[in-house]
Amino acid sequence: MTKTSRYQAYQPDASGHIHYSADDNTVWHELIMPQRARTERYCSRVFRDGLETLRMPNDHIPQCREISEALDSATGWQVTPVPALISFDRFYTLLAERRFPAASFIRSREEMDYLQEPDIFHEIFGHTPLLANPTIAEFSHHIGELGCRASADYHVWLARLYWFTVEFGLIREGGEIRALGAGLASSASELPWAVESEEPLRRPFDLIDVLRTPYRIDIHQPAYYVLDDLEQLQALMGTDLLAAIDRARALGLQAPLYAPKAG
Ligand SMILES: [Fe+2]
Repeated sequence: MTKTSRYQAYQPDASGHIHYSADDNTVWHELIMPQRARTERYCSRVFRDGLETLRMPNDHIPQCREISEALDSATGWQVTPVPALISFDRFYTLLAERRFPAASFIRSREEMDYLQEPDIFHEIFGHTPLLANPTIAEFSHHIGELGCRASADYHVWLARLYWFTVEFGLIREGGEIRALGAGLASSASELPWAVESEEPLRRPFDLIDVLRTPYRIDIHQPAYYVLDDLEQLQALMGTDLLAAIDRARALGLQAPLYAPKAG
């Protein structure tokens, strides 16, 4: 995870309320309106059902407390405001407590399509609909528990599994490929790219391949992994993932499909 951010976290007041400016709420509105239409077209039913369950406002940034109430009744999850960037330790601890860490700031107008750090639009619009699904909620909890139990040298490997499923996973649905991950659902340009561009590879989901695939967080992914269905994610929870990491580690990372980051 990156160590610095140009954004400042918003602090909740004594009652847990975060005060957003009118401009912040306008940015939310300008992000969510076209993105709702894109998710209708490109995202899986899993995401779309979650979005319907949570009933997010279009005209202002919802409070974590409001989203938590709806999520809690669906799957027992909460959303917790955090600074822009947190450590792996904190991330896995929160997931293990069924609390999703949400960076509280919203992006600036200069970064409407893409920013390197997760902001509140990515966290709330991208992630929380998925956490309303019992399988994804349980999978996220499972990753959190494993991250807490495993030594620190497993963290980056577990993060790769999380990246290619919860963040940037694709899934088969009704004979077509749809976007599953939160990083796709909240991105104006990567969502159509991942689903219908001829450029990226779409590989069948294979645990060892996924664990061995390096990624960059600042480009559209050159390769995605496609789950057959959510049962495949469910089955991973009955697998010894730390032993799979040991096997992947012994094989080593695959050669990257992207150019190294400049500088
Ligand atoms: Fe994310």
